[in-house]
Amino acid sequence: MTKMRSIKSIAIATALCASVAAPAQAAEDFKVGLILPFSGVYGGLGGEIARAFELGLEVFGGEVNGRKIVLVKEDTEGKPNTGLAKTKKLIHSDKVDVLVGPVSSGVLAAMRDTVHNSQTPFVIANAGHDGISGSKCSPWFVRTSFSNRQIVRPMGQWMYDQGHRNIYLMAPDYAAGHQMMGHFKAGFEAAGGKIIGEEYPPLQGTKDYAPYLAKVKAAKPDALFVFFAGGAAIQFVKSFGDFNIGKDIPLTGAGWLTSPLYIKKQGEGANNIIGSANYVTTIDNAANKQFHAAFKAKHDRGGSEFGVQGYDSARVIVEALQAVSGNTSDKAAFMEAIRNVSFDGPRGKLRFDPINGNIIQHIYVYKNVKKEGVIGPEVYDIIKDVKVPSDGCNS
Ligand code: PHB
Repeated sequence: MTKMRSIKSIAIATALCASVAAPAQAAEDFKVGLILPFSGVYGGLGGEIARAFELGLEVFGGEVNGRKIVLVKEDTEGKPNTGLAKTKKLIHSDKVDVLVGPVSSGVLAAMRDTVHNSQTPFVIANAGHDGISGSKCSPWFVRTSFSNRQIVRPMGQWMYDQGHRNIYLMAPDYAAGHQMMGHFKAGFEAAGGKIIGEEYPPLQGTKDYAPYLAKVKAAKPDALFVFFAGGAAIQFVKSFGDFNIGKDIPLTGAGWLTSPLYIKKQGEGANNIIGSANYVTTIDNAANKQFHAAFKAKHDRGGSEFGVQGYDSARVIVEALQAVSGNTSDKAAFMEAIRNVSFDGPRGKLRFDPINGNIIQHIYVYKNVKKEGVIGPEVYDIIKDVKVPSDGCNS
């Protein structure tokens, strides 16, 4: 008998005994703490993940063995200290059964030890901090999103193969920005390319990217490779469009630069951008069609990569809860059930790396093109089944 099955039978036996010994009483709610930014530069991303998580519960089931799945939402504001304080509140006061979030790598790094030490099951629905898949890994985390390395590392070789030799880098000045640029640089230099300049503007509050773009223009690189997301991406792509250097210096980067969530707000600057992403809306499978139809029916627009991560996180939790028949009193068994979840989702087969808990997935390279007046991505290339190394992970 596998460990999973034996956990399940114990849970059923316990439930049967309880129903004989005591009068029927309503099962306790199953509490999910959504620890996301609902304000600040990543506020739109947190909102989208929460929206799609709620949709996932509607589609996959908001109740398991009489336990209603309820949400407690807290706003990290995208700030590490706030994220940590709210995490402690959700764990110790609200006593949530599982946590889902955050968006920022900086917030994830701040909350990691509190989550690990309190042995709280955690489904990372966005933040890509590489340490969580490496030396800071923990058995209490899985990641349905990506690691920073996973998205950009394959692009170093890819950009070299496209003929680029001298590249300029730009990203916000915090953990994710530095990690992504570091991984791109490692891949590009290993292929034989050269990084000829790097800029790291502040994450919160940069309104004008022109001074940084002036430096890029003066350096005359073959291409600019960047990471920006959310409000920063909207602002950066607008500045890039206004600066009018796209015809000489192609804009490339991590795909959140022109997410379907905000591409319409970015104007002409979004055209021709090349990006790498863990999801594109055009993936042709039944689960992606179902996701889109459900999202559209509820929100009158298609979903996004952030939405898919929230939607898949809901399904992971529902399926794990089903696997333990709604009994989460043994937290380790519930966490093991989470790590064992696997299904055909909008991105194809979802499964977690058994060592570091990070999702294994395809990376899509796309180029934005304008068709009938609308700018949107066209897939150029698919880098299949990208895993990230578990270096230093001894969980
Ligand atoms: C991160 O901080 O890890 C992060 C934030 C937004 C993204 C991707 C990564 O779109």
